[in-house]
Amino acid sequence: MKNFTWIVIIMSGIFVTEAAIAADGTSLYNTKCAACHGPKGQGMKGMAPALKGNEFTTKGDVGDIKKVILEGRTGKAKKYKDMAIDMPKIPMSDADVDALVKFLQGELQK
Ligand code: HEC
Repeated sequence: MKNFTWIVIIMSGIFVTEAAIAADGTSLYNTKCAACHGPKGQGMKGMAPALKGNEFTTKGDVGDIKKVILEGRTGKAKKYKDMAIDMPKIPMSDADVDALVKFLQGELQK
């Protein structure tokens, strides 16, 4: 019985540590995306489209959204011709991009 208690204590320690280092969509957005897409996803005129209320983001395929983030969108693929710059590729881990897309489709749309 005593051993079992220790196992529970150790396991919950591991769990808390994992949660603390898990990918955080909000801070990823703030550090990697907000400069162009705006702190609230409102976009910036002539710079980057709004992601809040943006159909590609809210209704688009998760795979397509991840592709734009990881591979960027330039040249002929560019959708917003009035914007001088391209969407740069922003490489990150699978866990990070998953957390980020979750944030884009959830928290950012509120
Ligand atoms: C240097 C500025 C810049 C940064 C940083 C940036 N973007 Fe973009 N993003 C753009 C531009 C410009 C476009 C429009 C490309 C086009 O014309 O199709 C775009 C397009 C997009 C689109 C497609 C929108 C649509 O309507 O098709 C998504 C989704 C997106 N960005 C997400 C992100 C995320 C998430 C990050 C952070 C990881 C990020 N962007 C960082 C400039 C930026």
